[in-house]
Amino acid sequence: MKLRVLGGLSAQQFLRRYWQKRPLLVRGALPGFRGAATRAQLAALAARPDVESRLVRRRGGRWNVVQGPLACTRLQRNSTLLVSGVNLHLAAADRLLRGFGFLPQARLDDVMVSWAAPGGGVGPHFDSYDVFLLQGAGRRVWRLERPRAFRMVEGTPLKLIADFKPDEEVLAEPGDLLYLPPDWGHDGVALEECLTCSIGLRAPQGQELAAAFLDYLHERGLPRERYRDPDLGAARRGAEIPRRLAAHAAAVLGRIRWSRGDTEDFLGRYLSAPKPNVVFRHPRRALGRAAFARRLRRAAVVLDPRTQMLTLGTRCFINGETLAATPALRALADRRRALLPAALADFAYGWYLSGYLHLELA
Ligand code: SIN
Ligand code: CO
Repeated sequence: MKLRVLGGLSAQQFLRRYWQKRPLLVRGALPGFRGAATRAQLAALAARPDVESRLVRRRGGRWNVVQGPLACTRLQRNSTLLVSGVNLHLAAADRLLRGFGFLPQARLDDVMVSWAAPGGGVGPHFDSYDVFLLQGAGRRVWRLERPRAFRMVEGTPLKLIADFKPDEEVLAEPGDLLYLPPDWGHDGVALEECLTCSIGLRAPQGQELAAAFLDYLHERGLPRERYRDPDLGAARRGAEIPRRLAAHAAAVLGRIRWSRGDTEDFLGRYLSAPKPNVVFRHPRRALGRAAFARRLRRAAVVLDPRTQMLTLGTRCFINGETLAATPALRALADRRRALLPAALADFAYGWYLSGYLHLELA
């Protein structure tokens, strides 16, 4: 199927020819697109403590970054307000993210929206993940350089390339899409006041996975026995760690084992866990259990935009919890909207009370 957002390429063609290989510019990918958020909505989000935002300003060669929450209703020249996770708060940004449903949900990170004054940008840099840059209102010039070992500027609050030598320049107008593979140098400067949406991809790094997996093992339970040495002899060199203690440590650590099932359970929980600043909203006047079960017979269940629901093999994960995948849960996870059988009413009720899902009468 040809996708307009990919310039008439099918998802397969795009993935084969461009994905993690070369940039793609699609003129008029989303005709009439203005930016998935208004300036007023961005300003309101930036003022919230549960929303990640920053204000970046360039003065000559110096960069200034202020982290949110921010009171910012007007922008000075050469400055940009960037708001992350806009898809968690605005339905239009959530729809935009879901428009990239030809990619696995576990790989989609968030929609960041930047509102830039003329001359605004975040400087030449590279990102370690793929990004789709969708131009809303206003125009922005992108300069690009293919990946290499860039020299970075030291001592600035931003990650900036010191020796940026762009080999391509692109003028993005409203509705245009620029796809950039990881590690491409890029610098986007607003020609006039503009809005740009970045659909960022999630690509966990080994270290990040390993650290989280060690936490998972810890929570699951690690060997508990304490070292004992009833036949301890008098110490001759007091600083020397006893050999027996070293052998005990090696034996205890060597007993920590995990299976493929454990790594899969960990991965699903990890990838579906909400980011630390995510707050779910409980229903204002919640239905009782019986009324919910009755309504479930006629109403579709719709996942809240903050909910991440994934499946892997026989497991289903929702916001960091795990349970056995059933066909109905798989359908809900894939489509984010489904009719659920009565057998799942108890699970669904708990998720409804937690704000993970809502009921929508057909
Ligand atoms: C921006 O929208 O100003 C920056 C987006 C990016 O370079 O990744
Ligand atoms: Co970037």
